[in-house]
Amino acid sequence: MVNIHTSHRLLFILPATIYLILVFVCAIWPALIQQELDQAVPKPFPNELADRGRELYRSYNCVTCHTQQIRADHRIHKEVDGVRVVPVLKADARFGQEIATQAEEYAHHEPPLMGTQRTGPDLMSVGARLPDAQWHYWHLYNPQSVSPGSIMPPHRFLFTTTRPPADQEFDFEKVHLIKGLGVPKGKELWATPDAKALVEYLISLTREGVVQAEEAGG
Ligand code: HEC
Repeated sequence: MVNIHTSHRLLFILPATIYLILVFVCAIWPALIQQELDQAVPKPFPNELADRGRELYRSYNCVTCHTQQIRADHRIHKEVDGVRVVPVLKADARFGQEIATQAEEYAHHEPPLMGTQRTGPDLMSVGARLPDAQWHYWHLYNPQSVSPGSIMPPHRFLFTTTRPPADQEFDFEKVHLIKGLGVPKGKELWATPDAKALVEYLISLTREGVVQAEEAGG
C-alpha cells in the first residue's frame, strides 16, 4: 500500500495534479468561455471619424427624436431552426430588422443612445437602410428635399455654400446638387468636417454580424 506520507512520488504527483486541475477550472476554462463571448460582441465604431460623429450626434441632441433600439415582443415566441426566439415588435418591424437589439450591441457605446421618444424613425440600422453619404447630406441640409413633408429640422450649420480654400478641400466633401435642395443659385454646397463625421457615424450603424440570441425558457 502506497503511503502519501512516505511516497515522494505521490507527494509530488497529487498536489501537482490538483494544481493543474485548478488552473484549468479557474483560469483556462473561463478564458475559453470569455473568448467565445467576446466574438459575439460587435466591433467598436469602424474608425475615428465615425467615433467623432457619434459625439456630434450626442451634442446635436438627435437622440431627442431618434431611438436606437429595436424592441422585442415578449408576449409571443416563435421557433427559428429549432431555436426559441422572441420576434420584433410589429411597430418596429418597419425598420427592416428581424432581430430585436441585443445587449451586446451596446457594449462599445458609451453611453448607449437608446433614446426615449420616436418623433423620427429608429436609427439602429440606418446605415443598412440608407448607405449613401450624399443622401444624408441632402437630408441634413434640407430634410424635405428627399423626404417630402418631413418635420425634421434642417441642419444647415453643418454645410457651407462657399468653396473651401484649395488646401482644405480634402477636409470637406462636395455635395451634388439636386432639385429642391434650396441652395442659392450659382452657389456650391460643401459638407463640413463635422457633417462628414456625423454621416460616417450614421452609415456605420448597420448591425452587421448581429445574431439572434436564444430566449431562455419560460
Ligand atoms: C425634432 C425631431 C428631430 C430631430 C431633432 C432630428 N430628427 Fe432626424 N428625423 C426626424 C423625422 C420626423 C424624420 C422622418 C422624416 C424624414 O425622413 O426626414 C427623421 C429622419 C431622419 C433620418 C432618416 C431615417 C430613415 O430611416 O428614413 C435620419 C438619418 C435622421 N433623421 C438623422 C438625424 C440626425 C443625425 C439628427 C441630429 C443631427 C436628427 N435626425 C435630428 C425628426 C428629427
